[in-house]
Amino acid sequence: MVSAAVTLSPIFAVPLGEARLAPCERLNRELEALFLARETDEHRNPMPSHIPQEEMFESRFNLFRWPEPCVQELRKFMLDSVAQTVLQASTLSAEDFARLKFHNHTWFHVTRHAGSFVSHHHPMASWSAVYCVRVGEVPADQPGSGLLRLFDPRPGANAYLDPGNANLHAAFALRSLDLRLGEGQIIVFPSYLFHEVTPFYGRDTRITVATNCWFA
Ligand SMILES: [Fe+2]
Repeated sequence: MVSAAVTLSPIFAVPLGEARLAPCERLNRELEALFLARETDEHRNPMPSHIPQEEMFESRFNLFRWPEPCVQELRKFMLDSVAQTVLQASTLSAEDFARLKFHNHTWFHVTRHAGSFVSHHHPMASWSAVYCVRVGEVPADQPGSGLLRLFDPRPGANAYLDPGNANLHAAFALRSLDLRLGEGQIIVFPSYLFHEVTPFYGRDTRITVATNCWFA
């Protein structure tokens, strides 16, 4: 008997882009000061999609229209990161991509002690990204504080686990992915992916900027 070589390939794979802005300290401190100064009703999202929490401030979705240089610097980095992810993940040529209209909704979150964000996705966008301005304290007894959790989009795929599928390679893993973004780090992921922020137990603040992007 001749055993045929098996070719293994990922199907239904989820693209995840990741990049780091370096240096990021000056920019992040400028953003932090600006955001803390604008935690006001004027800048609060007037139509939150989920029940608002006292512990988490969500801004309006027009952040990238703010003219402040620090915001425009962040805008360039974040949208460039999204563009690079789209180009790497798709068959679009750079020329075709450059002809598209690149839309975004972008906002900031300031999270304080016990703040979190429930699982959700963004059905009116194709790509989402999160940038970390400030990690915040991670208490030694709360290692799961303030994590960004991306859920496996294959519901029920882990319903039956045995030694044959319990230790798959990372690309095939049947579990959610917990990320603690570092300052200056961005991740880009498909907007269909459900995600949540676990309760933040630091005594300070966790600050992130999120964007939803769509193209026409
Ligand atoms: Fe989100």
